[in-house]
Amino acid sequence: MIKAIDIKGKKLFLLDQRLLPTELQYVECSSWQDVAQAIRKMVVRGAPAIGAAAAYALAMAATALQKMPPSQFFAGLADAANELKATRPTAVNLMWAIDRMLNVARMQEGKTGAELEKILWAEAEKIATEDIAVNKKISDFGAELIPKQARILTHCNTGALATVGYGTALGIIRRAVEQGKRISVFADETRPYLQGARLTTWEMLQENIPVTLIADNMAGFLMQQGRVDLILVGADRIAANGDVANKIGTYSLAVLAKAHQIPFYVAAPISTFDFTLRDGSQIPIEERDEEELTHFAGTRIAPAGISCYNPAFDITPAALITAIITEKGVVREPSRERLLCLREG
Ligand code: MRU
Repeated sequence: MIKAIDIKGKKLFLLDQRLLPTELQYVECSSWQDVAQAIRKMVVRGAPAIGAAAAYALAMAATALQKMPPSQFFAGLADAANELKATRPTAVNLMWAIDRMLNVARMQEGKTGAELEKILWAEAEKIATEDIAVNKKISDFGAELIPKQARILTHCNTGALATVGYGTALGIIRRAVEQGKRISVFADETRPYLQGARLTTWEMLQENIPVTLIADNMAGFLMQQGRVDLILVGADRIAANGDVANKIGTYSLAVLAKAHQIPFYVAAPISTFDFTLRDGSQIPIEERDEEELTHFAGTRIAPAGISCYNPAFDITPAALITAIITEKGVVREPSRERLLCLREG
């Protein structure tokens, strides 16, 4: 399976997802600043993948700071953490991974810089390894919900490219196929950044999973024709009440699914939950460059000077979600009370 994130020595190699599907090229990152820039520029994307990349970035920061006295080491680490957190605002896995790294460092405060550096590299490695294991658990639980034969609609990219490996929603699809189920996928193109057209179709083709590309505005018609059995998407942040932030266009799919009585599933690791937020209205939504709307592959498609609005994510209310699939199990009809079990045990 393709690796979105690769480590060689103390360098991070990130598959340049901006170039897919036409070019397979890795960007070499030798400092935490390189990684921050790669996250900002979408070389690496997808909530779990940016979390893991940021964890490695902090390990790199520790390498650069290891000869500093403790106060400077921790101040430098905090600066790197703050800058990394500011690269993308919505996916909470980024903040989760950075906070986990900072906590590990703080708990070892008596140690030398060289010792801390080792500890932080080991923790980043642990975050990356755990992500794959977590995705496989999500996939096992999720595959139980997939009938023997299913036409699945998905949005954005939630596969190996969006994680350290295997994927969340696409991991479930992978696992269902491994179980011998007859699965076919409709991939929304996912305007305006085209993660579905460029990345999901590519991943599905690599795995020989039947996939059909559709433009986002075709999804409702497919549902009306009875050609979609279920919808499966990922998440970037889930509030305590089960409201889900995911790639722009997810909410429209959930409304359509309700109207057509089609199950709407969200797959995400516990690290995507933000129990500090009461509901989805508190989730910060990234707004991206208007050029994503005014240009297509470098060519202008809208009048110069046109006013644009380009939110990268939307909020799907918990009431529209059939179930959230996590590594700890499936939470049906998610609500604050039902999600408590994830928080506590
Ligand atoms: O802007 P992106 O490409 O980082 O957005 C990615 C998504 O919205 C995914 O659905 C989400 O991160 C889950 S990935 C397992």
